[in-house]
Parts: sequence; structure tokens; C-alpha cells
Amino acid sequence: MPSARQTYDLVIAANRLPVDKVVTDSGESEWRRSPGGLVTAMESVMRSQPGAWVGWAGDTGEAPEPFDEDGIHLRPVPLSADEVRDYYEGFSNDTLWPIYHDVIVPASFHRDWWSSYQTVNQRFAEAVAEVAAEGARVWVQDYQLQLVPALVRKLRPDVRIGWFNHIPFPPVELFAQLPWRTQLLDGLLGADFLGFQRQADSRNFVRACRQLLGARTKRDLVTVEGSHRRVRAAAMPISVDFKGLEELAKQPDVMARAREIRASLGDPEVLMLGVDRLDYTKGIRHRLKAYEELLSEGRFGPPEVTLVQVATPSRERVDAYRILRGEVEQTVGRINGELGKIGAPAVHYLHHSYPREEMAALFQAADVMLVTPLRDGMNLVAKEYVTCRHDLGGALVLSEFTGAWHELHQAFACNPHDIEGLKQTILRAINTPAKDKQRIMRALRRRVADHDVQRWAARYLAALDAAPDVPRPSLVSGADPLAGPGADPGAMHLGGISTAERATFA
Ligand code: ADP
Ligand code: G6P
Repeated sequence: MPSARQTYDLVIAANRLPVDKVVTDSGESEWRRSPGGLVTAMESVMRSQPGAWVGWAGDTGEAPEPFDEDGIHLRPVPLSADEVRDYYEGFSNDTLWPIYHDVIVPASFHRDWWSSYQTVNQRFAEAVAEVAAEGARVWVQDYQLQLVPALVRKLRPDVRIGWFNHIPFPPVELFAQLPWRTQLLDGLLGADFLGFQRQADSRNFVRACRQLLGARTKRDLVTVEGSHRRVRAAAMPISVDFKGLEELAKQPDVMARAREIRASLGDPEVLMLGVDRLDYTKGIRHRLKAYEELLSEGRFGPPEVTLVQVATPSRERVDAYRILRGEVEQTVGRINGELGKIGAPAVHYLHHSYPREEMAALFQAADVMLVTPLRDGMNLVAKEYVTCRHDLGGALVLSEFTGAWHELHQAFACNPHDIEGLKQTILRAINTPAKDKQRIMRALRRRVADHDVQRWAARYLAALDAAPDVPRPSLVSGADPLAGPGADPGAMHLGGISTAERATFA
């Protein structure tokens, strides 16, 4: 057990720790892997380098003592039941989440929630300040902690602060609805470097600073009023641990399990798969609608074709999530009632979390992977699917409204709002000749292999180290060595070292 004074050169702050403390039906506590893409990605980054992770343990009340797991120092931050309601379910997931995802459902604004968000962000900042070594890199994650960069800067001006947004950053027209918009921008501008999934997101952020704060901006740089400090905002799309996951998918027992899954489903000709947190952003209802119509039109049906929909429980006390779950389960019931056969349901619906091995087996078993979000920052499931297809089998149907689509152009692209178009895309994904699908899969895999999460983290930390901390006098007068002559402001996008980075690293 490290002493309470131990500090770390790299500190991650995320709303959740990589493990969740859950109380089982028998009343005992146990630790389980936390849900979501943030944990998947950051856990593989942190396993390969020493550091601390500050986050909530998923329970209410007193926080567990700090502990080490898999080489990561975990520093739990306590949340009371009221804070879970107001900061987490309320402000984070019923105010920010809808605004940042195109207002697919309406956002709720409550001053109490905002107050709780401020309190909890302050607590996170204090925990970070305690565990960060002198001059450490502090890497704040996601929309739940947007005030933390400025709060940490106040407490610890010696550290270098980065923030990464795992979800989209909205256009200013939507962001401007937030009554606390300027405080959120000021909070983020406490960072030295801000990372986003897509170039559109970083541009939205820079535009919001210009229009709502009146800040001076130049390409991807925002000058903080008063201090002349410049903050860089750039796109850096996150990824998966390609090597680790591919290795897992190649294990004989995982491959055997994939065959077993197919056999237990009656060895269908086409097995379709959806894997999502049960979230309204994921387009699960649209997917089911397209599938139901294809079945009722007699284009295909069980047992030859079947769909497995894995829907991980998520944010179950937030109304919009409760309503979605009811709708999805009702639709699945209707499809099976009307279009299923004895021993051959049309949809296999599973409301569970599974171990990584089982997910890898499911991906390998699926002929068509349906990734149809209405809006998604990245969607790691899409990248995990192609990573697991070392056999070059399978086909990826991918929504244009995911971050992943900006990298995986060769996938079978769809607009999930266009149900007729989605149906045609699903049919195309089924009927395209195997040789062509293999060619597509090879290209998709190359992209993910070349841009894995380790490369992403290395690039992010290099950009953080190169961030323009305290501007030199020449910068205030307008010269901009970061940009360099002829710099392409979009060059950070999708890999490669940009002119801007080269200028800084030279
Ligand atoms: P989000 O972060 O919005 O949930 P992503 O697709 O980026 O979406 O990441 C989801 C992560 O959660 C992936 O790593 C995926 O493998 C994992 N996951 C999704 N559903 C399950 C499940 N039922 N059991 C275990 N892991 C799951
Ligand atoms: C997305 C968010 C993460 C979040 C995850 C799971 O990936 O970007 O910040 O942790 O969903 O959601 P939850 O609310 O259960 O933490």
C-alpha cells in the first residue's frame, strides 16, 4: 500500500474509476469493471505507464481508501446520494449529455444541479492536487469534469493540464442554450491543451469561445483574456488497444466460443449484432425499426437470419433512459411475437454486461455489425468489431453520425434517420460478395491497427507537453511559431504529425 503522500507524474481524472463498487443481491460488495468506452480506452493506456486515476467508485457515501490495481493507483472521490442525483444523473446526464448530443431528447436545466456540479468538480480538483507530483501531467476526461482544468490550475499552477472530450462538442447554437455556458468555457480554458474526437468538435469549441466569451482566437488557439495564456484545441480521435484485443480474439477458446454462439443460435446464415449501452444516442430504435420492416416485407427472417442485441444497462434512474428501455423492450417483444418462430426468435435481446472474452467471441460470430447511432463522439464498438475480425469476415454497418465514421469510410455507411436507406444498407452488407467484404475489412483493420489507443495517448501527451503554456512576448505581438508557415489547421485530424506539431517538436 503506498503512503498517503505518494504523488504521481501522470494523473487521470475521470468521473468513474475503471472499477465500480457494487453491492450484490446477497449484500456483499464487489468490484466490477465500469461501463463505457472511456474506461475501455483509458484503462489500456494507464496499464502501460505508472500513474494515478482519480474517480468515483460508483457507490454513494464515504469513498473507499485509495488502492492500487493492475499498476494503477486508484484514488476514489466520494459522492453523496444527492450528488449522484444532481451532479451525475442531473447536470452531467440530463443537461450536458442531451445538449452535447444534438438534443435528441430535451435537456433539463436546474440551478441545484449546477451547484452540485460545481461542488463535485471542486472535490475532484482537490483530489487531483493531492496526488499530482511537482510538474505532473494532469489529464482530465470528459464532460462531467469541465470545471476541473481551471480549478486545478488555481490549486496547482505548476502542473500541465490536458482535457479530452470523449463525446461531441456541440455547435454554438446548442451550447449557447446552457445558462452556465461562460463558466463551462472558462473552466475548460484552465487547461493547456484540449482534445476532441473530430475537427468539427474542436472548431465548435473555438467558435463558442469567440462568440460567447469574445475571446481572441487564431486557428486552433484561444487566448485567455487577461493572462495572454493560449490554449490549444485540436482533434485527436481516440481508439482501441488493437494488439491486445486482436490477441484476445485469436485465442482458441474465444474462437471456439464464437462457433458455439452461432451453433446455439441454430447456425443462422446471417447473424446480425448490435452492442450498445442502452442510450438514446445509439439509434437502437431506428435499427429495430429497419430490421422489423425487412422481416415483415419478407426480405429475410428467422431462422436463416437473426439479430442479437446486447444492451448494457445505463443511467437507469434518468427518465429518458427508463423510457427508452421500455420502448426497446416493447419493440423486441412485438417483433418476436409477430415475426419470430418456435425455437427461432427474430431478436435475441440481452440486457447484461459481459467479460471482454465474450464480447470478442460475439464480434467474431457476427456476420453484420449494426452501429447506428444518431450521434456518438467515437463509438469504440465499431473499432473493436474490426479489430476482432482477424479472419477478415463480417461487415460493418456504420452511422455517419459517429466519430468512427470519419476514419472508417470504407464501412457500409448509413444515415439511421433514413429507415429505407438503412434497410438497403443492411441488405447490401449481407449481399456484397465475400471477396469484396474481405477487402473492405482489411482496409478498416489497417486503419485501426495504425491508429491504436497507444498511439493516440502518445500523441495526446506529446501535444500537451508542446502546448503554449505562458506565451512569450513574440507571441503576444502576433507571431505564431506553433502554427508554422503554411500549417494546416486540420493536420492534427486523423493521425500523422501535423506541421504545427513538427514546428513545436523541432
Ligand atoms: P459508450 O462509451 O458511449 O458506451 P463506445 O462504443 O465508445 O460507447 O464504448 C462502449 C464500450 O463498452 C466498448 O468497449 C464495448 O465493448 C463495451 N461494452 C458495450 N456493451 C457491453 C456489454 N454488454 N458488456 C461488456 N462490455 C460492453
Ligand atoms: C460514455 C461517456 C463516459 C461514461 C460512459 C458510461 O462513454 O463518455 O464518460 O463513463 O459513457 O456512462 P456512465 O454514465 O455509466 O459513466
